[in-house]
Amino acid sequence: MADPILQIRGLSKSFGALKATDAVSLDLVPGEIHALIGPNGAGKSTLIKQIVGELRHDAGSIRFEGQEIGTLDAPARARLGLARSFQVSSVMPEFTVLQNVALAVQGASGESFRFLRPALGDAALVDPARFHIAHAGLEGREAVPAADLSHGERRKLEIAMALALRPQAFLLDEPMAGMGPEGSRQLTAILSDLREEAPILLVEHDMDAVFALADRISVLVYGRIIATGTVDEIRANADVQSAYLGEDA
Ligand SMILES: Nc1ncnc2c1ncn2[C@@H]1O[C@H](COP(=O)(O)OP(=O)(O)O)[C@@H](O)[C@H]1O
Ligand SMILES: [Mg+2]
Repeated sequence: MADPILQIRGLSKSFGALKATDAVSLDLVPGEIHALIGPNGAGKSTLIKQIVGELRHDAGSIRFEGQEIGTLDAPARARLGLARSFQVSSVMPEFTVLQNVALAVQGASGESFRFLRPALGDAALVDPARFHIAHAGLEGREAVPAADLSHGERRKLEIAMALALRPQAFLLDEPMAGMGPEGSRQLTAILSDLREEAPILLVEHDMDAVFALADRISVLVYGRIIATGTVDEIRANADVQSAYLGEDA
């Protein structure tokens, strides 16, 4: 297997007496979708937040492209190419699709953009923005305010904005949540292509999507990884069956 882009070792985080993540180790390698599954409260979101730097870990290491990033704050990790997309806060609802993605392009260039209206005459912002919009499957919707997008289109906008950050890795926490079957199907196709852009650590409850997409699956239960393997290996794993997948898998 190729050298990991992201290498997590012994990552732990407690909230009082609760060990939300307990010595978690996992790798994300180029070209893969690595799904992280587990019951509610297993610590999946806590793990993602530790990796992106929203939560500081108590112990362990996070290496990204060979560099220890555990002491960097979240914006510094994002600038290195660790993309946490699907953050509701980053989309400006009153701005159009093109303006939102142009802002993301501007932000990726290191300029502060929070209070700036992007100059839509600026080809250096608009050309890459149009490219990312098309890549995310939103061509033709450039002039629509984000607030008027459907749920599925909104997710595509978030993908376009994540692409603008030129990510080296995507960390996605339940991107299918709240989507109908058609939206899930479309997003599944987009994520499948996106793995070529940058590998994806995918937390997802929708097991159809996980089994369709994942190159590898890790199963988190009570803060601990109990198994990592291919889809077939995980489906056949008796511990996983009893701990999580149950009868409806
Ligand atoms: N900020 C917090 N303070 C205290 N407890 C938390 C906090 N965030 C999460 N937890 C607890 O940590 C455990 C793991 O939560 P979470 O990572 O959200 O699980 P998952 O995403 O797998 O459903 C849960 O028991 C949750 O209640
Ligand atoms: Mg969660």
